[in-house]
Amino acid sequence: MTKKNQTLGEFIIENQTSFQYSTGELSKLINAIRLAAKVVNHEVSKAGLVDILGAAGDTNIQGEDQQKLDVLANEKFIQALTNREIVCGIASEEEDEFISINSNDKNHQNKYVVLIDPLDGSSNIDVNVSVGTIFSIYRRVTPIGTPVQLEDFLQPGRNQVAAGYIIYGTSTMIVYSTGDGVNGFTLNPAIGSYYLSNPDIKIPEDGKIYSVNEGHYVHFHQGVKDYIKYCQKEEGDRPYTSRYIGSLASDFHRNMIKGGIYMYPKSSKQEEGKLRLLYECNPMAFLAEQAGGKASDGYMPILDIQPKELHQRVPFFCGSKNMVDKVEEFIQKAN
Ligand code: AHG
Ligand code: MN
Ligand code: MN
Ligand code: MN
Repeated sequence: MTKKNQTLGEFIIENQTSFQYSTGELSKLINAIRLAAKVVNHEVSKAGLVDILGAAGDTNIQGEDQQKLDVLANEKFIQALTNREIVCGIASEEEDEFISINSNDKNHQNKYVVLIDPLDGSSNIDVNVSVGTIFSIYRRVTPIGTPVQLEDFLQPGRNQVAAGYIIYGTSTMIVYSTGDGVNGFTLNPAIGSYYLSNPDIKIPEDGKIYSVNEGHYVHFHQGVKDYIKYCQKEEGDRPYTSRYIGSLASDFHRNMIKGGIYMYPKSSKQEEGKLRLLYECNPMAFLAEQAGGKASDGYMPILDIQPKELHQRVPFFCGSKNMVDKVEEFIQKAN
């Protein structure tokens, strides 16, 4: 039962027993994420006042220049999860390899792994535009009591037990699902609690917003170019509106509430696309499906892709079901 204005703490306790594997471990894990999000939120909101803007001076495994806040958010989330000894492993966009957590007293007794994009929308940090965090949770597939292995992280998105994101925006929100619909909570900064503000979110089946970095248009493949032209054509309820922030979490959130499609296609410059399957696409695809929407790589559901490596990239089309159906139709026709 979801009650508007319930706090996230109350919601977690109330819904704990409805979760099929519930032992309280997943609830503790979500609790740790919401606490880390408060810390990161506090840091993000100070950006500009203290010396945490700009490049950190290193390049991550993705080949991107790490921003100071990328590094800080990564540290805070890893700390929150390891200190509480509630997961057996973590994989992060900012870490080359997965981290195996061997809590001394528990000896690999925890059953969940977390995959995380600690700070999404890095390029927006310096200009005070919304950034976010995206997370994804799986049950390990290797035996409890042994160190985690790569295969615990390389599971199809369909196996996720929970996923969500946090937006550090006009207000701070956490939106997540444990496989029983999607709920959104807004932080009241005066009190320090998140309140249920968006119960049981559903993506409208049709939308009027398309979100894509059109600067890459000339490098897109024909099917995607054709779909963009379709969005712009004056016919029926078109042309659609174009909205692109450049922060996946925020772009996804807007489209989920209002109806729309988010696209990060592959191109002649980025043959695999840009977004990371494990840290970005799978969690968003899980939320999209839970909210009645759809996520595809142009040919198949994102959630059915068998990952081959931690930092794998995939083309991504996600949002209102009928819009994703349409772009798939254009892509497959152009082949
Ligand atoms: P991150 O900041 O975690 O590396 O993710 C950036 C991603 C995503 O948030 C965003 O939608 C996309 O990259 C923007 O890419 P372009 O600047 O190429 O449009
Ligand atoms: Mn990055
Ligand atoms: Mn990201
Ligand atoms: Mn990131």
